[in-house]
Amino acid sequence: MNKTALITGINGQDGSYLAELLIEKGYTVWGILKRNSVAENQTYRIDQFRNNPNLKLEYADLLDLASLVRVLQIAKPNEIYNLAAQSHVRISFDQPIYTSQVTGIGTLNLLEAVRLICPNARVYQASSSEMFGNNIDEDGYQRETTPMNPVSPYGCAKVFSYNICRNYRNSYGLFISNGILFNHESPRRGSNFVTNKVAKEAAKIKLGLSDKLVLGNTEATRDWGHAKDYVKAMWLILQHDQADDFVCATGISHSVQYLVDYVFQSLNLDPQKHVSTAERLFRPEELKNLKGDCSKMKNILGWEPVYTFESMMDEMVQHWLDFYSK
Ligand code: NAP
Ligand code: GDD
Repeated sequence: MNKTALITGINGQDGSYLAELLIEKGYTVWGILKRNSVAENQTYRIDQFRNNPNLKLEYADLLDLASLVRVLQIAKPNEIYNLAAQSHVRISFDQPIYTSQVTGIGTLNLLEAVRLICPNARVYQASSSEMFGNNIDEDGYQRETTPMNPVSPYGCAKVFSYNICRNYRNSYGLFISNGILFNHESPRRGSNFVTNKVAKEAAKIKLGLSDKLVLGNTEATRDWGHAKDYVKAMWLILQHDQADDFVCATGISHSVQYLVDYVFQSLNLDPQKHVSTAERLFRPEELKNLKGDCSKMKNILGWEPVYTFESMMDEMVQHWLDFYSK
């Protein structure tokens, strides 16, 4: 029997790749969209398969429990992927209450709806390496057992969601798993995240459409993988025979400065001529270094990434060169 999945955040970066993957696997995929005044822009990441009969979209919002109940009643999903969030860390300092409501309480709304309507469904929660804050194990990695000490309103909200998922798993026997994913990127990444901002602005500079790139903290390091690889991990997590929590990462970390140097050199540009920093783009508290150990995921679920940092950044730069050359 074909399975049915519900994805919150289907029109985001990860939701769009996950929907494609699940449709390829023969799933019927339901996705929720929150209301937006410009409906045309909202679905650009999924427009290429919008007319697939196995894709069904409904308006609903993580802040509106009744809307979640309504969608679960009609979709009757076997698997639920909770990807919706206010996912931008710096903006979470500007909108801490909204971020806590959507990224934290929104998850609880969904769990309550699941408990009422479809308690046998398997739930994936999009947890984040931002939850670790600046805690690092002695060997330089973060893993499932690393204590969580978040340094942003977004990170605090994600820790609440992570904990409430574990609590509902233990209290009510629900199948709820956390994927603790390190940063993952793609040409579909919002262009206000650093990888896609650098790729987009460098392509514009190369084509003579701009000549400067302004960044915040370039000393921070991140463990960057490709979203296409990471949505496969989400699916594997829900196919496991028991609910559990898994880190997903590449185990390789680079600084933002290294990212800039790599992209500019790939375009034969000199970053010193074009790149500067501005205080307004720094965060009140910064997560300095991320490097994940995903041995558990590799050993138990057999996950392996296809992309490298370099092949991913090359793809993103090429996307923007093509976009601005049309
Ligand atoms: P994204 O591109 O920002 O997508 C977020 C999605 O959530 C969008 O579809 C957005 O819809 C939707 N959304 C926001 N508020 C909502 C609400 N109140 N009700 C319903 N939907 C709402 O994020 P992403 O990069 O795909 O990440 C997916 C999830 O993984 C997020 O929870 C993120 O926090 C988490 N995560 C991401 C990473 C990463 O590196 N990408 C790493 C770890 C964890 P609109 O676009 O219409 O606003
Ligand atoms: N966005 C942004 N813009 N970040 C910048 C800039 C800039 O102009 N300049 C420097 N940075 C630095 C940030 O300070 C941070 O140290 C690093 O680049 C990465 O920033 P983002 O790309 O915004 O990602 P993030 O690490 O804060 O958060 C992402 O990864 C988390 C997982 O660790 C998001 O996708 C979160 O939703 C996700 O949970």
